[in-house]
Amino acid sequence: MESYRILLSEAEMPQEWYNIIPDLPSPMPPYLHPATGDPITPDDLAAIFPRALIEQEVSPERWIPIPDEVLRIYQLWRPSPLHRARNLEAALKTPARIYYKNESVSPAGSHKPNTAVPQAYYNKVEGIKRLATETGAGQWGCALALACNFFSMECTVYMVKVSYHQKPYRRSLMHIWGASVYPSPTDRTQAGRSILARDPETSGSLGMAISEAVEDAATHDDTNYALGSVLNHVMLHQTIVGLETKKQLALAGESPDVLIGCVGGGSNFAGFCFPFVPDKLKGADLRFVAVEPTACPTLTRGTYTYDFGDTAGLTPLIMMYTLGHSFVPSGIHAGGLRYHGDAPLLCQLVHEKVIEARAYPQNPVFEAARLFAETEGIIPAPETAHAIKAAVDEARVCKETNQAKCIVFNLSGHGHFDLAAYDAFLEGQLKDIELDPDEMIKKALAELPKIKG
Ligand SMILES: Cc1ncc(COP(=O)(O)O)c(C=O)c1O
Repeated sequence: MESYRILLSEAEMPQEWYNIIPDLPSPMPPYLHPATGDPITPDDLAAIFPRALIEQEVSPERWIPIPDEVLRIYQLWRPSPLHRARNLEAALKTPARIYYKNESVSPAGSHKPNTAVPQAYYNKVEGIKRLATETGAGQWGCALALACNFFSMECTVYMVKVSYHQKPYRRSLMHIWGASVYPSPTDRTQAGRSILARDPETSGSLGMAISEAVEDAATHDDTNYALGSVLNHVMLHQTIVGLETKKQLALAGESPDVLIGCVGGGSNFAGFCFPFVPDKLKGADLRFVAVEPTACPTLTRGTYTYDFGDTAGLTPLIMMYTLGHSFVPSGIHAGGLRYHGDAPLLCQLVHEKVIEARAYPQNPVFEAARLFAETEGIIPAPETAHAIKAAVDEARVCKETNQAKCIVFNLSGHGHFDLAAYDAFLEGQLKDIELDPDEMIKKALAELPKIKG
């Protein structure tokens, strides 16, 4: 019998996360203090993060043990299945073998709980009562609400205004798991009030919501901040995805030729691909493809430089590809991919040409999502559909060149709360945003912070 799913037992779940920092081809540029421009110290971060996560952020250790309390919660849905997309292969008439790692099976419907759970755990251990965060599409807010619920902590979510209105049911999930949710920018924070004063009609952005959540955490002693992507410790926690995938591909007797993931801040992509990066650095013939929307083309059209992680300039300066922290992407339906920057570890590897990047407009992405839903049955999140589009394109190239490559992508989440976007697509109402990005990007890049030296 041909197998469709490659499964690991609970006992086979990895017990350690993989930290790529010691394996980077060159040292990672430090985060800089937003006020002084000097490299930040652990103390600078202590106002909003627990010690354990600050240590993980800069750890030189290659393997970091996963606490038992976290493993026990992971076991509710992990190890997640690796699927062979036989029906999609047949529809494409490709000689390629296509696999996908199914992170949509988590209770929140995406990969995000892989880091939400350890973040809540480490904060709880250090006596924190409440976590504040931002959310774009709502996936991260749901994941953190879920994790706080498991550890009996409060959770405050600043949800990008356009998504707050586009995705009311994600709000319901967060409410069921006990979180408070606000459409950002709000008048609850100084950052929110000054953004609203400048632009009362703004649709919001991840950068704005981050400013609000960071301010909330920094101004309350019992509250810390939790970030769903970008930072090193988030990439670390997500490596459980790639580590499981590696074991599953070995069970299937496969070694991958192309690994693909969508990129918002970079966490599902990094978690999926980083465990394979040492193989490439040692000479394996392996490609990594990071996929983003043309409406927010950070890796493909951004500049590699220091910038703030948020709109108000409260976060440390991060060396990354950026469209400028004041760039406000259009309200496309892949809300989780609307971020002006990306994870510094991912950006560094793109800069060093270990990872390649490409961008697609919404309509062809939704077209690929429809094909996937018709063949494999799963309705993917619009973010995830970017990875599917790239996998389909790679498989089509294999058909033209008659190459039986092994293509593997990360199915980062399902789209059950994105059905309004699917309706818009089916009714032909989705716009491929014809922004004038050159003008917008140029304007935002003109506001980049000046760096010493
Ligand atoms: C399903 C899904 N995939 C991908 C992303 C993008 O985030 P990241 O690049 O951190 O994985 C999001 C963000 O909300 C998401 O919800």
